[in-house]
Amino acid sequence: MSGAGELSPLIGADEIARRIDLLAEQVNTDYADKDLLLICVLKGAFIFCADLVRRIRLDPEIDFVRIKSYGNNDASSGKVEMLKDVECRVQGRDILVVEDIVDSGLSMAFLLRELAGRDPNSLRLAALIDKRERRQTAVHVDYPCFILDAGFIVGYGLDYAERHRNTAGIFSLKSG
Ligand code: IMP
Ligand code: MG
Repeated sequence: MSGAGELSPLIGADEIARRIDLLAEQVNTDYADKDLLLICVLKGAFIFCADLVRRIRLDPEIDFVRIKSYGNNDASSGKVEMLKDVECRVQGRDILVVEDIVDSGLSMAFLLRELAGRDPNSLRLAALIDKRERRQTAVHVDYPCFILDAGFIVGYGLDYAERHRNTAGIFSLKSG
């Protein structure tokens, strides 16, 4: 049985595309004269990052990290570990981290702290979803696509128990 629960449509593919168009325009402007390095946070941000990067008219380098936040399927325990690091130089670069969801903020607080320690020229965060209800630590999302108050969502890269990542839109998942 894959990802138990009832799915209801929340954000359609067209709306996601419209928001990413705007976000990419902002990135194109803000990084016009910078040495942009996009860091995609696996796994959840892979589709968002792929759509975002194809709208960026600059010539960024793209790298990937994988971090694991221990907990159950829908909440972080606060223990975060880097499973895969970037392979490129961070020092002196203009970094834009591309994440799926900032929820408690613990994962991004960990990653941003880690990257900041490598002395980048600038460090900002883009997130598909800025979910603020369960924020435990102050993490500022510089480029949020959507702001959500509450709920658990899947699709467009986001999973529940590793399922539901491959839908064009975003769905809310009600347990049951
Ligand atoms: P954190 O609580 O901010 O550390 O978020 C940790 C990770 O939990 C995020 O990067 C997401 O991958 C995942 N996550 C949090 N909320 C949701 C959700 O509503 N759906 C799917 N994954 C989520
Ligand atoms: Mg996840």
